[in-house]
Order: sequence, then C-alpha cells, then structure tokens
Amino acid sequence: MSEEVKINKKTQFMRLRQFYLYFFNDLIWDLRLGIHTVFSDYRGMNRTNYGYDPTPYQVLQKLVKSGWIRKEDTLVDYGCGKGRVGIFLNNQIGCRVIGIDFNERRIRQSNSNLIRYYKNKSRSLYSPRDDNESNPDDFKPKIQFIHSKAEEYVPDEANCFYFFNPFSTKIFQKVFNQIKDSYDRNPRKIYIFFYYLSREYRNYFPTNNSLVLVDDIDCRKSFLSSKTLYKLQIYTLRE
Ligand SMILES: C[S@@+](CC[C@H](N)C(=O)[O-])C[C@H]1O[C@@H](n2cnc3c(N)ncnc32)[C@H](O)[C@@H]1O
Repeated sequence: MSEEVKINKKTQFMRLRQFYLYFFNDLIWDLRLGIHTVFSDYRGMNRTNYGYDPTPYQVLQKLVKSGWIRKEDTLVDYGCGKGRVGIFLNNQIGCRVIGIDFNERRIRQSNSNLIRYYKNKSRSLYSPRDDNESNPDDFKPKIQFIHSKAEEYVPDEANCFYFFNPFSTKIFQKVFNQIKDSYDRNPRKIYIFFYYLSREYRNYFPTNNSLVLVDDIDCRKSFLSSKTLYKLQIYTLRE
C-alpha cells in the first residue's frame, strides 16, 4: 500500500471515529435528559432560514465550562429548534432559558421534550422560593418555549443570547437591534454567544462596531475540522 493511500485511509478512519464519538455523546445526553433532539430537520429551509441542526452537546459542555453563563442569568436561544440548548443549560447551570422559534412544529417538539425532561427528572416547572418574601421572579417558568419570529421578540427579560446559525445576517441585524433597544431601555451586562462562524458571519462581525469579542473557543470536532467554522465566540455590547 502506498504512503498516500495509507494517509487517506487513516484520515477516513479518524473522521468516522470522530463522527461516532460525537453522535454517541449526543445520544447519551438525550437519554440522560429524557429528550429527543438528535435528528436534523431541513424542511422549510430557504436562503434566510437554515433549518434545524442541534448544537453538539460537546460544544454546550464547553460553553458551561467557560463560566460565562451564571445561575442568575436568563438566556434566550434564538431559533431553539427542539429545545436542546435551553434544557441542557438549565440542567447544568440552573439558569432561566427562553427558546424562540418561528416554526410551530419545532415549538411543539420543544414542549414535548420539556414535559419528558420534567417527567424524567420529576422537577418543578417553577424556580424554588427560599424565603417568605414574595418575589414575582420566583413564579416565572425556568424553561419556556415561545412561538415567534426572532426579529419580533422583545428580549427585555434576558441578558444572554445564544445563536447557532439560525438565519441570515440580515435577520440577525434586526434581532441585534431589538437587543440594543432593550439595552437602551434597561442597561445591563449583555452577552451574545455565537456558535459556527460561516463566511457570511465572519464577514459580518467585524462590521458591527457595537460588539466586542470577549472569548473565542475552539470547538473543532478533530484536528481535521475547519478551524474557522467550528468556533464558539462570545461578545458583549460596547458600553
Ligand atoms: C440550526 S437550528 C438551531 C437549534 C438550536 N438553537 C440548537 O442550537 O440546538 C436553527 C433554528 O432556527 C429556527 N429559525 C430560523 N429562522 C428563524 C426566525 N427568523 N425566527 C425564529 N426562529 C428561526 C429554525 O426553525 C431552526 O429550528
């Protein structure tokens, strides 16, 4: 066997191995949480809406480890698909999460996953109260999935915003304007989490002067994957 053929075989083997490692990690986490989020769904996909693909759990594990999201934060997952991000982050960090998707079927799937998750964990749908003071926040659901267009959602309750390649930069700009308007009404520390840097977004981010990059996490599946695509970037608003 020639050297070239040997290298090709090794590369193919590594790719396959990595694919299975990722896939099984995803299956195992879905089983642990009692939810069904593994399979992609590209129905209704077009040039502005990129269809459903879940963020790999390995990426979400890195996000949790990074420490940027705290228990007291509220995170919006823009284009939540089947609800994986919200359920996992609530499970691991205890933060409040709101998933937004304009696809009604996916919101139904997210809510079915939420019911399965709570059945699996026998948890309360509401955050616990630990004193006698009546605080309206105590009665807000810890996980919520809302049927809405991302660009129409007013994110006044949140300070963390997650995106995994849901739509075009044109729609992102509209969503970003909503976030900025919300910040102007109520200034607070805001974090934007962005996974998967397509060329479109790589060109867009340097043109947005209101965003400051605070962390850049390598999320390549292996040394063979693209260094520029598989990144988790964390931005804050320029004050
Ligand atoms: C790549 S999936 C990401 C799923 C999830 N955030 C995750 O990381 O596991 C993108 C989702 O964005 C939704 N989406 C696309 N355009 C949207 C829009 N304008 N408003 C709300 N949701 C949208 C799609 O229906 C799809 O479920």
